[in-house]
Amino acid sequence: MSARKIIIDTDPGQDDAVAILLALASPEELEVLGITCVAGNVPLPLTERNARIVCELAGKPDIKVFAGCDAPLARKLVTAEHVHGKTGLDGPTLPAPTMALQPEHAVDFIINTLRAEPSGTVTLCPLGPLTNIATAFQRAPDIAPRVAEIVLMGGAYFEVGNITPAAEFNIYVDPEAADIVFRSGAPITVMPLDVTHKALVTRARNEAFRSIGSPVGIAVAQMTEFFERYDKEKYGSEGAPLHDPCVTAYLLQPGLFTGRHINVEIETHSPLTLGMTVADWWRVTNRAPNCTFMGNVNADGFFALLTERLARL
Ligand code: RIB
Ligand code: CA
Repeated sequence: MSARKIIIDTDPGQDDAVAILLALASPEELEVLGITCVAGNVPLPLTERNARIVCELAGKPDIKVFAGCDAPLARKLVTAEHVHGKTGLDGPTLPAPTMALQPEHAVDFIINTLRAEPSGTVTLCPLGPLTNIATAFQRAPDIAPRVAEIVLMGGAYFEVGNITPAAEFNIYVDPEAADIVFRSGAPITVMPLDVTHKALVTRARNEAFRSIGSPVGIAVAQMTEFFERYDKEKYGSEGAPLHDPCVTAYLLQPGLFTGRHINVEIETHSPLTLGMTVADWWRVTNRAPNCTFMGNVNADGFFALLTERLARL
C-alpha cells in the first residue's frame, strides 16, 4: 500500500516538533509533501526556523519547509512563549538550520499541491492556528472538496480551555480561521485537549525517550522536560501533554483513539468565550455533524508507537 500523502501545517513548539519527528520516522506509511509554518506558539520567523531545525535533527534536510501567514485573519497574534520558551523550542541546544526555506508561500503551496495531486489523496495535518488552511480555502474554494481529510489538534469540550477558561490555544488564536475550516465540508478529525491531556509524558516515558540514546531521543526528552513544567504547575499533572503527536499517531494507528461524529461550531464573537469549540457531544441540537471529535486515547499504546518510531531516526 502506498504511503499516505500529508501536508503538516505547524507552529513549532516542542509538541509540534515531536509530531513532525514521528511523521518523518514513518516514511512507509506517511509521505510528507511539505511542512507549512504558521505564526502561533511563537512568531512566524521562529516557527519556520524551528521546523527546519527539526527536519535536520531527523536527518531529513530535503523536506520542503514553507513560511505562511504571520498573523491571524482578523486579530492580533497571541503567542505562547510562557509555555514553549522564547525560541519556541527551548530545552535542547540544537544547531541553527542550514537547509533553505522554500521561496513559495505556504498558502500557495497548499493550493497548488491540492490542485496538482489527484482529488482525495492529500491529508492536511494542522498542528497550530488554522490561518494558513483557512486562507487557502478562501483564496481557492475549489480545493476544499479535494482534501482527503483534515486531522487537526485543537479545541476542547470536557477539558474546556487552556489559554482562556473557554478556549484551546490553536482555535483561540484564530477563531475566524477555525470557523472557515469547520464549515468547509472537508472530512475533519479533531484531537482536542480531551484526548491530548491523556497523553502525558510521565517520568518513565521521558526516560524511555532518553534511553533511545540517539540525538533525537535525547532532544525529545529535553524538549518534554522543558515543556512539562507549565502543565505540571497549572494542572498538577504527571507530565507534558503531547498534544500534536496525537495527530501523527492517529494517521499511523487510528485504533488508538475513540470519539464521536458530532457537530462542532466555533465561537467568534463573545469576548467571554471567544474561540470555544461548542461540541454537541450529547447531540442535543439538530446541527449536522461536521467532524469526528476524539474523546479517548490508549496512552500506553501511543507512547509505545512513539518511542519505537523515534528510535528509527
Ligand atoms: O493547545 C495546544 C496547542 O497549542 C498545541 O498545538 C501547541 O503546540 C500549541 O500550538
Ligand atoms: Ca502546535
